[in-house]
Amino acid sequence: MTEMKWPGIASRRALVTGGSRGIGRAIAQTLVDSGAEVIITARTVESAERAAAELGPSARGVDLDLSEPARAESRLAELAAEIKQAGGLDLLVLNAGMTRDGLVMRMSLAQWQEVIDANLTGAYLVTKAFVPGMIRSRFGRIVMLSSVVARMGNAGQSNYAASKAGMIGFVRSLAREVASRGITVNAVAPGFVDTDMTKAIPEAARNKLLELVPLARLGEPEDIASAVAFLLSDAASYITGEVLDVNGGMDM
Ligand SMILES: NC(=O)c1ccc[n+]([C@@H]2O[C@H](COP(=O)([O-])OP(=O)(O)OC[C@H]3O[C@@H](n4cnc5c(N)ncnc54)[C@H](OP(=O)(O)O)[C@@H]3O)[C@@H](O)[C@H]2O)c1
Repeated sequence: MTEMKWPGIASRRALVTGGSRGIGRAIAQTLVDSGAEVIITARTVESAERAAAELGPSARGVDLDLSEPARAESRLAELAAEIKQAGGLDLLVLNAGMTRDGLVMRMSLAQWQEVIDANLTGAYLVTKAFVPGMIRSRFGRIVMLSSVVARMGNAGQSNYAASKAGMIGFVRSLAREVASRGITVNAVAPGFVDTDMTKAIPEAARNKLLELVPLARLGEPEDIASAVAFLLSDAASYITGEVLDVNGGMDM
């Protein structure tokens, strides 16, 4: 894909959670290419810094582990204070996410809770840490990564699908709460994208999934990154509370 500069992104400060790999990494690259200063997070500072170094001098990597809500909340308080000192945040991408698949009948409470904590409670905690600053500056763009399975469901992914469907209710409620402060809140719902997350799917199951995709290929991280960048850009300033499907037509 050719490098493209999205309007209204230059000189903005962005935070992309889970920016070390896959979709988050492609989002961070797109924002850097459009002239933003980008902070990416990963579970360890080493992998965050390694990825940031590859993104270039306008990227910085910090650690943020969302697995355990109380710990995440106190780490976020530190990060929000640091970022406030540096002038605040304009663009927020809630991308960090994980799976722990299993059929409902065999799923342990811990397995259910782990995914809800990281994906849904994590999104709530990150939002809560940074929205006050956006309210103060009367500007903000928030995009959360949901999934096609929020609507379609997926056998073996009840915890993950519930977290991603919950996120849509969260997006729409938050969008209503902060619209009058110049903040938009939207979601992008990817189909199956070629990242570490889907590499875990066995080859036969991957081929079966491809049969469901009219465009007959898995998505690339860049396909999702451009939809996210659009929603963060000035081109989307009148869009809020929306869920943008980017799934090659698998659920239309
Ligand atoms: N790939 C798909 O087909 C697909 C489809 C629909 C939606 N999505 C969503 O898109 C987002 C990105 O997916 P991806 O495929 O790019 O995933 P990925 O390649 O597995 O990367 C996940 C990212 O999230 C971070 N992360 C994972 N668990 C975390 C936790 N407990 N706390 C903090 N950070 C955590 C990882 O950090 P580390 O590097 O430290 O592990 C990594 O940066 C996710 O929300 C996913 O649910 C993906």
